[in-house]
Amino acid sequence: MAEAPSVLVLNGPNLNLLGTREPEVYGRTTLADIEADCARQAEALGLAVECRQSNSEGQLVDWIQEARQNHDAIVINAGAYSHTSVAILDALQAADLPVLEVHLSNIHKREPFRHQSYVSRVAQGMICGFGAQGYELALRAAAQLLASQREA
Ligand code: DQA
Repeated sequence: MAEAPSVLVLNGPNLNLLGTREPEVYGRTTLADIEADCARQAEALGLAVECRQSNSEGQLVDWIQEARQNHDAIVINAGAYSHTSVAILDALQAADLPVLEVHLSNIHKREPFRHQSYVSRVAQGMICGFGAQGYELALRAAAQLLASQREA
């Protein structure tokens, strides 16, 4: 049987605080809960998944650079770096993998500085405003995308 396609789920700065960080904006689900859900969901979809979080831009860039060797797609919530980081955009572009962008909150309903995302420039699509469920939706989209790539 062919090896399960692998998805790297990356979370950026301050997302380690989920559950206690502004719960009225981001909900009460912790990052550990989200990562456990991703593992369950991935298994159901026939995907392998690896979840990582860092507060450091350079660390995220390193992981994105390495992703090409071990993964077939990247699900990323780059947190505030989505709005600022050309380095993450460049790394994603170089990775040459499908990128699915997630935000727990609806960034377009919020402050104007959150409306633009560098990640969106390379993302296949973005899921925002559905809280923790966004990761599950992104994994589902990744599974379909990877399946259609394999058929092509
Ligand atoms: C976020 C939205 C960003 O604007 C913010 O800086 C975050 C979280 C979200 O998931 O809604 O850290 O990416």
